[in-house]
Amino acid sequence: MLWRLVSNLNGIDQFRATDEPWALVTGASDGIGKSLCKVLAKRGFNVLLHGRDHRKLYKCCQELLAAHPSGKFELIVADATQPATVQDVVTAVRGRPITVLINNAGYTTGPVQPLLTIDPEEIGRAISIGITWTIQLTRALLPRLVETQPSVIVNVGSYAASHPPPFISVYTGTKGFLQAFSQSLRNEMRTIGHKGVEVQYHEVYFCSTKSNGAPENLATPSPNRMAHAIIAAVGSCKGHVVPYWVHELLSWLFLLVPERIISRIAGSVLARKRTDTGTLWQ
Ligand SMILES: NC(=O)c1ccc[n+]([C@@H]2O[C@H](COP(=O)([O-])OP(=O)(O)OC[C@H]3O[C@@H](n4cnc5c(N)ncnc54)[C@H](OP(=O)(O)O)[C@@H]3O)[C@@H](O)[C@H]2O)c1
Repeated sequence: MLWRLVSNLNGIDQFRATDEPWALVTGASDGIGKSLCKVLAKRGFNVLLHGRDHRKLYKCCQELLAAHPSGKFELIVADATQPATVQDVVTAVRGRPITVLINNAGYTTGPVQPLLTIDPEEIGRAISIGITWTIQLTRALLPRLVETQPSVIVNVGSYAASHPPPFISVYTGTKGFLQAFSQSLRNEMRTIGHKGVEVQYHEVYFCSTKSNGAPENLATPSPNRMAHAIIAAVGSCKGHVVPYWVHELLSWLFLLVPERIISRIAGSVLARKRTDTGTLWQ
């Protein structure tokens, strides 16, 4: 909590150093990603919106343009289950000095069921969105982010990596990978002299997006409130941050509760969302 007082007062503004600052948000057509684009536009960034649905992305761009007529908003269609599409994003980014990369797309509409019953192809898709595609995109854009320092990479993670619940083991694994990857890359950037490339892992708990389905309340903020919390924490001194204050309080509370109890509670919530078909894949 104290980091909120001592964090860099310039926050995200320190990454707006160029005349024409650009941010790229993946999974920008809905939920937290869409709200992140709105907050970034309000803070003076031009935004590249990535997603898989041209129609939805076009509508988002139009909304942004109506609210910020002097801003630039461009869409990039690339299915993150297909690692080869990373190149389409790289091509679209070309020529734009991006200083903010937010890896927000995650496997949010995947199956909630035991690993025993998951279609193996779904496992591949989850790993592609959450790991392969995201890491390859980061790798491909890293030289540019080194060039445009100060720059920041924000990886949107989940409480699931810290308190792995049952029935979403593959999704949880992708977030665990992202958490370790973020920390390692952050250390690496410092070690090889690119201190101006900030890397942050943002641990999100619950947010009332369409994929989550939960109604909004104090512990389950709207995507808009979550996006404001994420942007407020960008550029803080922390590499691993729980951006929304209620969730940060929860994270402390969880330290006092035995892991098996947290897992049992999360398990009973997720059990009600199970999507098993009853088919056992061999
Ligand atoms: N909501 C929560 O409670 C919660 C909790 C913990 C962590 N998170 C994390 O927060 C991030 C955002 O979650 P959210 O709830 O905002 O998700 P969301 O509402 O489901 O939105 C996901 C975004 O990713 C896009 N996307 C999904 N699959 C894609 C694919 N194959 N290729 C390209 N784009 C794809 C979606 O596009 P379409 O519009 O075409 O579907 C959408 O723009 C995720 O990383 C998630 O794991 C969320």
